[in-house]
Amino acid sequence: MEVLVFGSAIVDFISYVERLPRLGETLKGRKFATGYGGKGANQCVAAARLGASTAMIAKLGDDSWGNDYLEHLRQEGVDVEFTQQCKNETTGVAQISVSDGGDNCIIITPGANDALNGEDVSKAEKLFTSCKILICQLEVPVESTLHALQAFKGISILNAAPALQNTPIELLKSATIFCVNESEAALMTGAYEIVNLEQSKEALMKLQEMGANTVVITLGSLGAVYVKSDKKNEFIHVPSITVEKVVDTTGAGDAFIGALAYFMAKYPKSALHQQIGAACRIASYSVQYPGTQSSFPNQQDMSINLDVENFDWFLL
Ligand code: ATP
Ligand code: RIB
Repeated sequence: MEVLVFGSAIVDFISYVERLPRLGETLKGRKFATGYGGKGANQCVAAARLGASTAMIAKLGDDSWGNDYLEHLRQEGVDVEFTQQCKNETTGVAQISVSDGGDNCIIITPGANDALNGEDVSKAEKLFTSCKILICQLEVPVESTLHALQAFKGISILNAAPALQNTPIELLKSATIFCVNESEAALMTGAYEIVNLEQSKEALMKLQEMGANTVVITLGSLGAVYVKSDKKNEFIHVPSITVEKVVDTTGAGDAFIGALAYFMAKYPKSALHQQIGAACRIASYSVQYPGTQSSFPNQQDMSINLDVENFDWFLL
């Protein structure tokens, strides 16, 4: 197995609206859609669509959403031996608003996701010892995520989202690659904002000082920046392509993480800027289509061969 995801599966309730509401304001939406979401499952499906063999350790409710979600993951080719429906729990839900400009705001109610625990790590030991890449996020209990990261001996990617103001040091230290977006990086490092490359370089340094190994920060249309654990003074920017029309950025970060895991598994010898450049290309595709998983490309939509394609990178 190439990619193992330990994390969340959530049903998305998406309202498309002209602009995001102000505090206390009620707005009329234009359109409503439901979709399969949750950062964990999104990342797993993103990797699976590109052609990775994947497995998902997650918890769903004992309700019709849980039944449907399990079937959906099977159809995406994900190994669901350790995706469990829990009695007396509801499937996690997310209320998402997406503006005409493609921006979003999200509230999640985790439900069954909160029941994912250390025992689920032990039960799936065979996956923890055989998979190449582990992906975790923070929509399930932090202690469970930490347990999963510490049990894994391969390459691990922690997408520390949603961000915590006081991220436990152990969590930062335990992942091979620590990845956040610009607002999460700002919250974690105490920066007022991160809107340019200079500020993102400072955030990379700070996250390194806080104990993280290799750090990646995604920057929306600017692409991503990173610093590797073995080259602590080399800060690199990998730009993204410019897209004509941004329709919906929800899940762009998840498309990036799932794709990064796919490229790391398939091209283990490629340079990190190549793997990140390819992941940015996949994520940029996703922002041009509505929804979360519904916007992720499969191999027919987009295929990137890292043995022949070269991605630009710049020293910061
Ligand atoms: P979300 O929380 O909405 O799922 P995110 O904030 O975690 O996403 P971003 O940093 O916005 O993640 O985007 C991840 C990647 O998606 C970027 O590194 C970039 O490659 C691509 N991307 C996002 N927005 C754009 C855009 N407007 N144009 C081109 N590419 C984009
Ligand atoms: O990253 C996007 C995801 O965040 C959505 O699918 C939603 O479920 C929330 O978890």
